[in-house]
Amino acid sequence: MHTIRLAGGPAFPCADGDTILRAGLREGLGLSYECSVGSCGVCKFELVDGAVEDLRPDAPGLSERDRRKGRRLACQSRPAGDCTVAMRLDDAIRPPVRPQRRSAVLEAARRLTHDLSEFTFRTDGAADFLPGQYALLQLPGLAAPRAYSMANTPNGEGVWQFIVRRVPDGAGTAALFAMAAGARVSLDAPYGQAYLRPSPRDVVCVAGGSGLAPMLSIARAFAEGPADGRRLTLYYGARAARDVCGEAEVAALPGFGTRIRYVPAVSDPEDGGFAGRRGFIHEVMADDLGRCFDGCDVYCAGPPPMTLALEDLLVREAGLPVDRLRFDRFF
Ligand SMILES: Cc1cc2nc3c(=O)[nH]c(=O)nc-3n(C[C@H](O)[C@H](O)[C@H](O)COP(=O)(O)OP(=O)(O)OC[C@H]3O[C@@H](n4cnc5c(N)ncnc54)[C@H](O)[C@@H]3O)c2cc1C
Ligand code: FES
Repeated sequence: MHTIRLAGGPAFPCADGDTILRAGLREGLGLSYECSVGSCGVCKFELVDGAVEDLRPDAPGLSERDRRKGRRLACQSRPAGDCTVAMRLDDAIRPPVRPQRRSAVLEAARRLTHDLSEFTFRTDGAADFLPGQYALLQLPGLAAPRAYSMANTPNGEGVWQFIVRRVPDGAGTAALFAMAAGARVSLDAPYGQAYLRPSPRDVVCVAGGSGLAPMLSIARAFAEGPADGRRLTLYYGARAARDVCGEAEVAALPGFGTRIRYVPAVSDPEDGGFAGRRGFIHEVMADDLGRCFDGCDVYCAGPPPMTLALEDLLVREAGLPVDRLRFDRFF
């Protein structure tokens, strides 16, 4: 156990093997982060005193300039002793549920498309998270955990469901898709800031590929809530007809067809097997809403270029306040 002191702020314990970010979040501190895997760069900090081990020296979240200036990533830094670090704290982003490490058993895997499957894990105790958040799974044989978003809603039975796309030559997905029912993993959760917030506005969910998982969690939580006149639309972007997914799950929700809608679109112009809308999903969404976003909160998950395009369209072009768009980039 080491002690991490925030320059000009509080100190917190960091258990052996934990990263500075995860230890701070376990203490309920409002540390900035997004991906937890070294890719986004949001968790940068400066080491004032002490030594840390860098778990991912080539992490894309740090630029050459960052490295020259001695900046580090809190999600990839494991303390080698007591440390003092310079990092911003913000009470507005304190974790609503403090992450915990648990042992999880794989109960079932269900194929959804040619490359997407749903995995159901169970832990002792409640599955405690907010809709839209993700878990870090330590998969067999991997040095580092992978992030996967929950597709179900929080529950007392300890059920955690994920929708995962099998990535060609991907080490994590190869290990996950090879697991048999009864196998165990370490599940550390919940993480993420793109969770469903209370609001008087309509909800717009935009998902690309496996980004379906957290958007489905949000849609399911919305369906469990009161029918108060608000509506939710889940826009799902796929490359080709065989990639389209999620309609059956959304159609099963109470309120589907009245206060809940599902709109898929396919972006490959060559794909002849799809009768619905064509184009990039953020454009389909914007056209569908008549390019008027005043009355909605937007949630989004999927490949980084998709979330970037959505941010450009909504925040930079249409002037949507930044806190009305929440997203996770699936690095
Ligand atoms: C917040 C978040 C939520 C996500 N949710 C989902 C989801 O719900 N469904 C889904 O299918 N995918 C999701 N992803 C993507 C997922 O985490 C993996 O990137 C993807 O499954 C490919 O992993 P792989 O190991 O098969 O591929 P690989 O090509 O072997 O690994 C790619 C990814 O693994 C991580 N990684 C690789 N090396 C290291 C290292 N040394 N240290 C730390 N991290 C490393 C990086 O994120 C990298 O992009 C999410 C990603 C993020 C960031
Ligand atoms: S949270 Fe550390 S790089 Fe994304």
